[in-house]
Amino acid sequence: MTYTQDELKQHVAKAAVDFIGNELHPDSILGIGTGSTVDLFIDLLAAHKSQFKGAVSSSERTTARLRQHGIEVFELNEVDALLWYIDGADEINPQGEMIKGGGGALTREKIVASVAKNFLCIVDQSKQVPQLGGFPLPVEVLPMARASVTRALQALGGQVVERADFVTDNGGVILDVHGLTIDQPLQLEQHINDIAGVVCCGVFALHKATAALVATQQGVITMS
Ligand code: A5P
Repeated sequence: MTYTQDELKQHVAKAAVDFIGNELHPDSILGIGTGSTVDLFIDLLAAHKSQFKGAVSSSERTTARLRQHGIEVFELNEVDALLWYIDGADEINPQGEMIKGGGGALTREKIVASVAKNFLCIVDQSKQVPQLGGFPLPVEVLPMARASVTRALQALGGQVVERADFVTDNGGVILDVHGLTIDQPLQLEQHINDIAGVVCCGVFALHKATAALVATQQGVITMS
């Protein structure tokens, strides 16, 4: 029997709830990412909502889903520290560095992840890659800088496609950069961060996964 990608996402969501379940305390506040895998995680986490205090959300989409389940959502400014941030990824390499932002929530994801002590990445095996860059790199920019940032990203060797009919939760636009060779993720993240007008770069190397659960056809494996 071969599992579909949706079934693998369900498997890793269940494994993530089992993993986080051991870490929950009445005072725990979890950082929660965005995406279809996280949606499944939230649905299963809801059964444990009496065991923790609430969550900080990385998007309007996730906030709505958490509230539907009666999980309290806190503003990040109300919270001093998060022990765990749980999120999916579009690609993850063996070092735990990721490309994120396929859903366009990369900026808030990176902010919440930066506050958390640990980042648990939850993916199906299709997201595992030896080197980042097969998935187009999302970069959020301020609208007035879309042309100047496009030129700067083209100078790095990328083909830039503005995401059509899409505005982020922060009022930004997303430039998807195709064809980059990302052999030094940390350096690339820092370089793109320094381009004027960039709000957030979808390389997560400064805040990489401290642990990852990967759903494979043979079962869920842990990378740490
Ligand atoms: C959202 O902006 C992204 O960073 C998601 O975490 C990423 O796209 C993974 O999403 P799926 O779980 O839907 O594949």
